[in-house]
Amino acid sequence: MSDPITVSLFHRMNFRDEENLLDRTVQGVISTPMDRPEGPLKVSGTATYADEDHPPGTVYGWLVRATITKGWVVGLNSRALRRMPGVLAVIRDERMIRNPAQGGDAKSPYQGPAEVFYKGQPIALVVAETFEQARDAATAAQAEYLDRSHKAVIVPAEAEYETPRGEQSSQGDLDRAMQEAAFSVDVEYTTPSMSHASMEPHAAVAWWQDGRLTVRGSYQMLNTNAQELADALGVSPKKVRILSQYVGGGFGSKLGISHEAVGAAIAAQKLGRPVAVALHRRQVFETTHRRSESRQRVRLACDAEGRMTAVGHEVWVSNLPGESFSEPVTQSTPFTWAGENRLIGHHIGRLNLNGAGSMRAPGEAIGVPVTEAAMDELAEAAGIDPVEFRLRNIPEVDPSSGKPFSNNRLAECIRRGAEKFGWADRPKQPGSRREGEWLIGMGMSAIIRVNMMGPSTARVTLNPDGTALVETDMTDIGTGSYSILTQIAAEMLGLPPEKVTTMLGDSDLPPSIGSGGSRGAASSGTSVMLAAKALRKKIAERMDCDPDDLTLKDGTAIAGNRQRSLSDLLAGDTLEGTGTIKPGLAEMHHRQASWGAEFCEVAVSSVTGEVHVRRLSGVFAAGRILNAKTARSQCLGGMIFGIGQALHEKVETDARDGNFVNRDLAEYHVPANLDVPHIDIELLMDDRDAYANPMRAKGIGELATCGTAAAIVSAIANATGHRFRHFPVTLDKVLEKLG
Ligand code: MOS
Repeated sequence: MSDPITVSLFHRMNFRDEENLLDRTVQGVISTPMDRPEGPLKVSGTATYADEDHPPGTVYGWLVRATITKGWVVGLNSRALRRMPGVLAVIRDERMIRNPAQGGDAKSPYQGPAEVFYKGQPIALVVAETFEQARDAATAAQAEYLDRSHKAVIVPAEAEYETPRGEQSSQGDLDRAMQEAAFSVDVEYTTPSMSHASMEPHAAVAWWQDGRLTVRGSYQMLNTNAQELADALGVSPKKVRILSQYVGGGFGSKLGISHEAVGAAIAAQKLGRPVAVALHRRQVFETTHRRSESRQRVRLACDAEGRMTAVGHEVWVSNLPGESFSEPVTQSTPFTWAGENRLIGHHIGRLNLNGAGSMRAPGEAIGVPVTEAAMDELAEAAGIDPVEFRLRNIPEVDPSSGKPFSNNRLAECIRRGAEKFGWADRPKQPGSRREGEWLIGMGMSAIIRVNMMGPSTARVTLNPDGTALVETDMTDIGTGSYSILTQIAAEMLGLPPEKVTTMLGDSDLPPSIGSGGSRGAASSGTSVMLAAKALRKKIAERMDCDPDDLTLKDGTAIAGNRQRSLSDLLAGDTLEGTGTIKPGLAEMHHRQASWGAEFCEVAVSSVTGEVHVRRLSGVFAAGRILNAKTARSQCLGGMIFGIGQALHEKVETDARDGNFVNRDLAEYHVPANLDVPHIDIELLMDDRDAYANPMRAKGIGELATCGTAAAIVSAIANATGHRFRHFPVTLDKVLEKLG
């Protein structure tokens, strides 16, 4: 018996009235550090990723890529390639070439069928019986070009910048506030282009059956991705199914479909056989989007008591010509710190470099480290401890919009973090603490990431045997979706988690927002909660009680002095509940963000210039924590990401042609074991945000990386007495300053 109920919360101002169910349920599963249900499959190698399972008869594709930086492809030695061993097809379909591999950007700006915008851009796909034959033939590909590479713009300093509408705002008079301030800083920082470097390279295996396409791929937002792929192919979205049961990291690079998906789909249709296209690591670097480099000017001012009067943040980022994505670097600047005079500026330049797109915490990941490092500079200029300085400048309401905060635990995170870390022991004089060749310093940063939500639907089925099934097209990109959705259903239905099965990663399941922008847990989690709530209502009907008086625990329903097992109560029936959440007024009327504070101790070698992060500590508040272990793991990953940003990561491009110089994991440096110290993490487990959603949970996935690099560079400044404003702070830069 299936009887779906949809609970839509579109017009709700807040969820204060929502019975705070998850604080009243008694199963005791929610928030616990439960192990991942799919963990054993992953560590035993039985969880198959996109390219690890090919249908019988699969053939293989390899991308051919442009060797010029700008121009047009006018010819290809396709006939010669088709004569090579095993080659089945050479695809030069504009639907594949036009696909820009941009997160969420379904509409491509590309005008011509084979216009080249950057070196390494895919221009064809060679398909052969074996992987090796396809790769071999693609290597022999020779394109003819109308070469306009001499007109390419590679270097940000040479780009023309435009100011997107709505991206500029000001209040008060920043210039005047700067002049009149007791203390001020006017500094420029730069952050480099970076690469996602997920463990699983992008891959797609496509096959058509009865006019319908199935793609086994590695993607983050399946409902959107199916629409993008349908769009690219010119078919109805109903004709496209995407499967991404396990995803080996995405970080934003898999928010949208890439060339491999479109190419595999076209080739599979043409050949009537399944086609697998997996990207080489080098292709991942060169054809899936990068994070934009940025130049950021920060102006901050305060009065003699250290009360801030001005906040200015202007940024310059880049992307390919015509691309709409522009990294929202200033996203949290309008509301983090007090000050009546404010200015936000956002400018985008056009470069002939592989397109820029979302990468973990797009915006704050590179904006907060810069504004927070500048805050450290202003605190020092004012002679006030950086912790004390920040505590004086937390605004009561969003100073840009006047909106109240849904909640703001920043001060608590800072105080708690300072106490745990032993901040009182920070060297008062920069460059004053030495241990042999090592200069020791401490730094801190506030951590901020906006909280967002997306429309999501889930179905929960209660089986006659008292087990439950959760279904949604949500993905688990390593973040813990399987864990938290299992926990939410188990908690709501009073079941041990082993009795709950969660099925994700299939676009035929009820549509969720997917994984991106730290929205996944709150959005799909709420849809599961609401679906389970619909089931609770049905169970209450069978118990002949009010849903509010129903207690569910260990497979038993309890009302007053009556107690019955669920399987008894179901009497052979199957019950189904559907839940839908949509963002609504609550999001518009309150400023919502997740908060944190991080503290760092570094040792800088005065001989080699190398920086060792010795201790890293963070305290975070993100509403209800759904799983203490996976939440902590997200914070760990974010902080390690921040170490890479501060000290290691930079995509090096050749200024002559835009060639990526470090395009593998040997040359593109991410933190390795010795770079990562013990990391201490505390989550404020009592936090609840009644304006966020009925679960009162907020995003935590990307939170912890939004500021880490500021804690590190401020610690370096405290250790050495020198400011480093160009990321990453590599040893050559340190040595130059230390002399
Ligand atoms: Mo994230 S960059 O929104 O996957």
